[in-house]
Amino acid sequence: MTQTAPSLTPQDIAQIAHRIDRPIVLVGLMGVGKSTVGRRLANLIGVDFVDVDEEIERAADRSVAEIFEEFGEPYFRDGERRVIARLMGETHGVIATGGGAFVDPETRALIRDKAISVWLDCDIETLVERTARRDSRPLLRGGDPHAILLDLKEKRSDSYAQADCHVVTDDGPHNATALRILEAIDSWL
Ligand code: S3P
Repeated sequence: MTQTAPSLTPQDIAQIAHRIDRPIVLVGLMGVGKSTVGRRLANLIGVDFVDVDEEIERAADRSVAEIFEEFGEPYFRDGERRVIARLMGETHGVIATGGGAFVDPETRALIRDKAISVWLDCDIETLVERTARRDSRPLLRGGDPHAILLDLKEKRSDSYAQADCHVVTDDGPHNATALRILEAIDSWL
């Protein structure tokens, strides 16, 4: 079922945006829409958008899949930790993290200290459908995506639940999700 979009007026949005004094960091599983929704949200409140995976790819001059293949996951996680530490020391509006970033205790503590963290969450079926559109995720290449995503959800939910806000998304428009994030932040602030 598609949830209805919150009815925020442009004035409401501007008022909430005005109160946001830290970067908004989106966390959650692969395929939940962190990058797409993050771009929409940044656009809506007139701030910049940074995608952590893209930053890691730029620094390594390789795709995430190539980094996993050539150097292994621990190397990728080191890069992820360093990139997020750098971003937290800069001024940014909206940051989309890769699904594993907030699971790292050091990164999670840093994000919780410096940013407003938002757990984007949705059902496994939607994640399976969305992640099937692109074969760019190394963690899903080794088996049944449904089982892998379910396992990751079980292992990671306690970490994700430490985010400041929890927003459940559906297969509705990304704009509605961006508005729901603003509403959640408004209540949290
Ligand atoms: C990962 C998620 C990916 C990417 C890497 C590992 C994870 O990012 O960082 O493949 O551990 O869940 P997205 O969540 O943007 O797909």
